[in-house]
Amino acid sequence: MIYTDILLGGGNMKKQILFVDDETQILQGLKRMLRSLRDEWEMYFITGGKEAIEFMNEHPVDVIVSDMRMPGIDGAQLLTHVAEHSPYTVRIILSGQADKSQVLRSIEPSHQYLSKPCDADTLKTTILRASLLRNLMSDEKMSFISSMRSLPSLPRIYSDLVSMLRSPDFSITNVADLIKQDMGMTAKILQLVNSAYFGVSRTVSDPSMAVNLLGINTISSLVLLEGVFSSVSNQMLPSNFSLDAVWNHSGSVGKIAQKILKDAKKDKQDIDDALSAGLLHDCGKIIFADNLKKEYEEVIDKSIRENIALCEVEKEAFGVNHAEAGAYLLNLWGLPEALVEIVAFHHNPTSFSSSQSAALDAVVTANALIDYKGVEGGVAALDQLDDEYINKLGGKKALISRVDCS
Ligand SMILES: [Fe+2]
Ligand SMILES: [Fe+2]
Repeated sequence: MIYTDILLGGGNMKKQILFVDDETQILQGLKRMLRSLRDEWEMYFITGGKEAIEFMNEHPVDVIVSDMRMPGIDGAQLLTHVAEHSPYTVRIILSGQADKSQVLRSIEPSHQYLSKPCDADTLKTTILRASLLRNLMSDEKMSFISSMRSLPSLPRIYSDLVSMLRSPDFSITNVADLIKQDMGMTAKILQLVNSAYFGVSRTVSDPSMAVNLLGINTISSLVLLEGVFSSVSNQMLPSNFSLDAVWNHSGSVGKIAQKILKDAKKDKQDIDDALSAGLLHDCGKIIFADNLKKEYEEVIDKSIRENIALCEVEKEAFGVNHAEAGAYLLNLWGLPEALVEIVAFHHNPTSFSSSQSAALDAVVTANALIDYKGVEGGVAALDQLDDEYINKLGGKKALISRVDCS
C-alpha cells in the first residue's frame, strides 16, 4: 500500500521537504514529531523510491530525506537519481543501519547522514544547515564562478587515493607509492611536512615517512590542496599575490586548527575536519588569481590601500568572495558538506551561528591567529570578526597572546 501524506504550512515561500521511507509508521512518526515546524516547512511524506521520483517530477523540493533500505528503488538509487535530475535539492539519508561508514561508502550522492531514531532538533538543524549552504551555492550566485575559464578539476591522484582507501588491501606503502608517482605532489607534501608548523623534529625526505607521520586524512587533504595549486594555468599571477604565501598560510591554519581541537580533546572527526578545512580554506583565492589576474590585482590593492577586508572588496568586484568561491569548488568536487561549510563561512562564522561547529570555530581562530599580521588583505581576519564571536572564542587579548607565543 502506498502512503502519501502532506503537512501543509500554507504560503508559497516555505521550504519544501520530502520524506521517503518504506514504512508508513516511520513516516507517521516523523509527521507527528515535526508538526511544530509546519509554519516553516511544507512537508510531504511518501512511501517508496519510485513514487518519490514521480512526485518530484511534478513537484520540485528543496530537501529530500530518504531511508536507505527500501524495496524496489532504494535510498542510494533514489538519491543518485535526484543528484542527476535535481542537483540543487539537498539530499539526506535517514537510516536505521548501524554501520555509518559502510553506508556512507555505498552512498556517494548524499549530503548528510542521520541515524534513526533521530530527534526533531537534530533533524531540523541538519536540514537547516544543509539548506543554508545550498542557498549560498545557488546557480545564480555562482554563475560567475562556473563561467570561469579554468576551474581546477579534482586531482586524479585523489580519486585513486579514495579507491585505495576503500579497498581491503590498503596499506601505507601503497599510498606512499601512489604519491611518489607524482613528483610535484611529492615535493609539495615534503615542503609542508618540513615546515615549522608541522612540528616534525627531523627532516622528512621520504613520502612513506610523511604518510606515516601525517596520517591518511592529512595526506588526502594535502593532495587536494596541491591539486588546486598545480592547476594554476596562467603563469602571470597578480603581482601582489604570492602562491607560496597562500600555501604556507594554509598549512599553518590547518595545523593550528587541528591543535586547538586536539588540546580541547574534541572528536576525531572534528579534528580531522578542522585540519582538512584549514588546509583548503583559502583555495578560492587561487581561482581568482588564476582567472582574473588584472581584476584581482586591483582588488588586493584596494583592500590594502583603503584598509577594507579582502573578502568585502572581492564581493563588491565579483559578487562572491574567496570563501564562497572555494566552497563552490570543493562542493563541485563532492567533498563532505562539513568541510564545504567551514570553507564557506570562515570569514563570517556568525551567519552560521544557528548551529555549533567546533571545527569551524577552530579554523576561524587559527586563521585569525595566523592572519593577525594581515595576510588576508587590508583588514586582518581577526578584526573582521564581531565582538560577540571573539568573546565566544575567549576574547581578543587571549587570542593575540596565543599568536605571540606560537
Ligand atoms: Fe580567507
Ligand atoms: Fe586564510
